[in-house]
Amino acid sequence: DDTLGSAAAAKGRYFGTAVAANHLGESAYTGTLDREFTAVTPENEMKWDATEPTRNTFTFSAADQIAGHAQSKGMKLRGHTLVWHSQLPSWVSGLGASDLRTAMNNHITQVMQHYKGKIYAWDVVNEAFQDGTSGARRSSPFQDKLGNGFIEEAFRTARAVDPDAKLCYNDYNTDGINAKSNAVYTMVKDFKSRGVPIDCVGFQSHFNSASPVPSDYQANLQRFADLGVDVQITELDIEGSGTAQADNYANVVKACLAVTRCTGITVWGITDKYSWRASGTPLLFDSNYAAKPAYTAVLTTLGGT
Ligand code: G3I
Repeated sequence: DDTLGSAAAAKGRYFGTAVAANHLGESAYTGTLDREFTAVTPENEMKWDATEPTRNTFTFSAADQIAGHAQSKGMKLRGHTLVWHSQLPSWVSGLGASDLRTAMNNHITQVMQHYKGKIYAWDVVNEAFQDGTSGARRSSPFQDKLGNGFIEEAFRTARAVDPDAKLCYNDYNTDGINAKSNAVYTMVKDFKSRGVPIDCVGFQSHFNSASPVPSDYQANLQRFADLGVDVQITELDIEGSGTAQADNYANVVKACLAVTRCTGITVWGITDKYSWRASGTPLLFDSNYAAKPAYTAVLTTLGGT
């Protein structure tokens, strides 16, 4: 087990990465992807602005490139994301409530239909809660015009389209036990008690010195798992370098391995060269695709050599 993917598989888990379609032609990028990873998440290509830039005109070419690559290599595909306030075309934010509801359900239906049978898990709703201590919903066109019920409606619509895809709620700053994760926890508990379809919760896990790996990370994953959902680490990256960064990565992997229902880990990119943190070095491979100490720490923590 000398790759991330094979070591994770020996532990019954996938090891994924975010992928950008425009880098797939770069041999070092795709070579590293194919060697190390067993799951992919399109970094931007399945978002609303990419898939439905104008109303009811769907464009899947970039996302299809990633999906086709994943399928040809036997990798799992995480769908990211159907309902999110960001990367949302302005035509959506301009709609009135009734039109917005129709558009949201149509978007979910058309995109999920296109990928039906090919998606392991969908981030149905992304980042619907506020940061800070209020535990309140974040203001967005969906929240402001449709009210609290929009999340439930999105999940019900999603289940009807592709009953075989796992349906996830995904967020950041919910990695430890805090007011924001408490609010998500309360929602998931309510969904489970009322039979609203939800299968998994994604913990983005973007960490840096201001937002380090929480000491109660594992406990937080476990309390969600205990509600009867899978948990996944969906967008992992950790600022820093050397041993400190490696130790933080090892702690994340340990937490997932300790939680039976933690089904996999996805890092938010392959190489530091293309990280969304433009000036940072948060990933497992440096800008020349050399494995960093963080890579070795992840591999050995997974039981690989
Ligand atoms: O596609 C346009 C291109 O045409 C244009 O020339 C260029 C000029 O700036 O911009 C390109 O769009 C950029 C897009 O990434 C594709 O590269 C956007 O400006 C840029 O804002 C966008 O950033 C993405 C960000 O989400 C937007 O919110 C990052 O790549 C992506 O890594 C990041 O991912 C998010 C997750 O989806 C949700 N959780 C947080 C995470 C990190 O922010």
